[in-house]
Amino acid sequence: MPAESRLAFAVTPNAAPVAANARSERLVDPGFGRVFTDHMAVVRFSDEKAWHDARITARAPLTIDPASSVLHYAQEIFEGMKAYRLEDGGTALFRPTANARRFQDSARRLAMPELPEAIFMESIERLVAIDREWIPQSDGGALYLRPFMFASEVFLGVKPASEYLYMVIASSVGAYFKGGAPAVSIWVSQDYSRAARGGTGAAKCGGNYAASLVAQAEAIRQGCDQVVFLDAVERRYVEELGGMNVFFVFDDGSLATPALTGTILPGITRDSLLTLARDQGLTVREQPYAIDQWRADAASGRLVEAFACGTAAVVTPIGRVASPEGSFTIGDGGPGATTMRLREALVAIQRGQAPDAHGWLHRLAG
Ligand code: PLP
Ligand code: COI
Repeated sequence: MPAESRLAFAVTPNAAPVAANARSERLVDPGFGRVFTDHMAVVRFSDEKAWHDARITARAPLTIDPASSVLHYAQEIFEGMKAYRLEDGGTALFRPTANARRFQDSARRLAMPELPEAIFMESIERLVAIDREWIPQSDGGALYLRPFMFASEVFLGVKPASEYLYMVIASSVGAYFKGGAPAVSIWVSQDYSRAARGGTGAAKCGGNYAASLVAQAEAIRQGCDQVVFLDAVERRYVEELGGMNVFFVFDDGSLATPALTGTILPGITRDSLLTLARDQGLTVREQPYAIDQWRADAASGRLVEAFACGTAAVVTPIGRVASPEGSFTIGDGGPGATTMRLREALVAIQRGQAPDAHGWLHRLAG
């Protein structure tokens, strides 16, 4: 292994961590993305020194130069993954090397340096080890890890930067949707596209989310929880939600999900559910599915369930779909049996309650 693909992390514990009782209070009902831990991981990159200066330190604000190129040209990528408390008291990550690889794929697309998998893994493992007490005990609680990297070079020319900061922060989380959301409603965006062929749709870069916000805000105005995007060419085929992949369940027991054509994010939850569905003997197709077909199939009863999936959302039933052309309900508007069976199968593995037949759990020491 080349020297730079591993680094020694200097660990400096937070001198003033949150007191245990204050932390417990924050963990009672953390919501999503508002409660942060005591530490963060930082690694620097420069063309000259490659990866260097790996640290675990107290979580603190950054000071960055106003000409840092990320602030102007948005050269930024991120990941989202969770550390779970297991039934037996241990702690584990779920398929973390898949996140490491996707982070490298995103980096290549954004003309950024690829972080070696060993450094990615060590940054995560060390951060979880030092902030383990922040993993909520509650059902459905987890420590959400947010690795990210941005261009820190101070330069206004438009080119790939020569300096980057890679960091990981951690957030104690409960359910992504308020109240656990038995079923969510989604708004079909007709005016906005998320991604086009040749664009950055398959990369997890901040710019994709910036571009989705006006459509997500419209969804909220329309009384929906999330936006769903259609393909940018024909504006017919369902792609994905603002922050989740989508699955359809039919009355013959089969499932479908949009194929990875380069415009949607290759979700790790999506991939895991494809495998679990096949394990359960279900037929799964990766294929285009048009919004008109969705409406017609919901009306005829051929489509019986639909759900969104992702690290943050886990598996969340979709109960209602709305668009300027009117709205339609899926099934009885509540969680469907196939959706919930898949959700339970996934969560049981993540919590160490079911055999890990595919070797997806990455147990952490201690
Ligand atoms: N699609 C988008 C746009 C996302 O932001 C996410 C969340 O990460 C997903 C899909 C689901 O990906 P994963 O299952 O890897 O979390
Ligand atoms: C995730 O599921 O990790 C995401 O990044 C999606 C976002 C909506 C929080």
